[in-house]
Amino acid sequence: MSPLGICLVASEVAPFAKTGGLADVAGALPRYLSRRGHDVRVFLPLYSSVALAPGDHHPVDFLTDLELSMGERRVRFSVITARLAGSELFVYAIDCPELYHRSSIYGADDDHLRFAFLTRAAIECCQRMGWAPDVFHCNDWHTALLPLYLRTVYRWDHLFERSRTLLTIHNIAYQGVFPRSVLPEVSLDGDAHRFDRSDLDAGVVNFLKTGLLYADLLSTVSPTYALEIRSGELGMGLQELLRQRSESLVGILNGVDYSEWNPETDEFLPAHYSADDLSGKRANKEALLDELGLAPAPEAPLLGIVSRLTPQKGFELLYDVLPQVLAERDVRLVVLGSGAPDYEGFFGSLQGSFPERVCFYRGFSEELAHRIEASSDIFLMPSRFEPCGLNQMYSLRYGTIPVVHRTGGLADSVRQWDWERQTGTGFLFENFDATGLRWALGSALATYDNRDAWRRLVANAMASDFSWERQVDRYIDVYRRLSGRAD
Ligand code: ADP
Ligand code: GLC
Repeated sequence: MSPLGICLVASEVAPFAKTGGLADVAGALPRYLSRRGHDVRVFLPLYSSVALAPGDHHPVDFLTDLELSMGERRVRFSVITARLAGSELFVYAIDCPELYHRSSIYGADDDHLRFAFLTRAAIECCQRMGWAPDVFHCNDWHTALLPLYLRTVYRWDHLFERSRTLLTIHNIAYQGVFPRSVLPEVSLDGDAHRFDRSDLDAGVVNFLKTGLLYADLLSTVSPTYALEIRSGELGMGLQELLRQRSESLVGILNGVDYSEWNPETDEFLPAHYSADDLSGKRANKEALLDELGLAPAPEAPLLGIVSRLTPQKGFELLYDVLPQVLAERDVRLVVLGSGAPDYEGFFGSLQGSFPERVCFYRGFSEELAHRIEASSDIFLMPSRFEPCGLNQMYSLRYGTIPVVHRTGGLADSVRQWDWERQTGTGFLFENFDATGLRWALGSALATYDNRDAWRRLVANAMASDFSWERQVDRYIDVYRRLSGRAD
């Protein structure tokens, strides 16, 4: 089959820039597409935090010192191309210090401009490359204006006549809602009528909603989330629109890049292990407890959490349950993350109450994330909602048993442990409440106490396969469907 041309635009791409799972997906999917021989060109901002490996990046001479008008403002930028680790693929980083040299990736007053600019810069680069991708693949609200730009600002350019657009919703809770007065700044003042009428009446514009209106095809990151967001409150106000576009919405579960998340080769682990020999897992646990200054626990289970600490993640369900569990039995808890003050306060005070058994590491650490996945026995993800979730899939491969709320991608990737049949890979609770979580964690701990059952459960978990190797075909099918190219 002939190769497809895919232009993927995202606000985060691992390992260059990452706050969450979007980066993992935007880093891995292109690598797998390119291994299949497709022409993938990835665009992201060159934030000041991006560390480029020496020798592995260079300026693109015909994309240097360009100017783009955003309303009244003229913005200058250049493009640096950099090798995506673990591949021969080079990504395109938009170098524009006035917009991207900030203290963090998100949260600036001019985010509307920063990401609308990224979107337009990607299109302008394609023009200068003389390249018409079969599909422009945009991700979340940041790049959701792309389909509208093609119909307005770039309508004149016949180069893109046959290009189609796919918008992937990684999280519908973030929509990019701004005062309608930003329209001139994002070069769409003459196109106000194309935005949702009721939003305009309320004085706002919604970038994600605009993408949902104009993209040729929509996808989200798990089949269950694709149902949830059109059926009820998880649609966060966009459910009606998604119902209308039901035929054009597909759910594709994210994949895992097992070249990065594999306990047999993981570069961040003191000891490697496999399903056949779990002694390395025990060694990792011992080393991690020591590293974090916790009491050794040859027999006691270690509970792990690695997460953005946002309300989506549902950690309030732990408020009563964890202190109780810690009081009743010997367990260890390691938490890595930062965010909402309530959550940080809870984990901080839990550490204060159980200093030898609980460690709250406030911050972001790729290395520690890998070590927690490898060392823990049980992984807690009580998310209120979870479009896909990657950590539960990483946990499975590391033989770390997930305890999760049955929602979104958690429902699609974890199977309930059944003691009778010895099947299943984790513990799921149905209703988002403390009773459900208490039951699921209690069941996990009771199973842990039975060596044979636990060994079986861990073996089941480690045999799960969510590789990109498989999932990439789902995207290729969608791209072909969109482009009308079955050849
Ligand atoms: P989300 O995108 O909602 O944050 P996911 O489970 O899809 O949730 O992806 C989270 C990604 O971010 C995983 O790769 C996880 O390991 C990583 N991550 C989250 N918080 C941290 C942290 N504090 N330190 C290191 N990695 C983190
Ligand atoms: C979002 C979601 C998460 C998903 C990730 C990558 O941040 O919260 O569930 O796995 O995007 O698609």
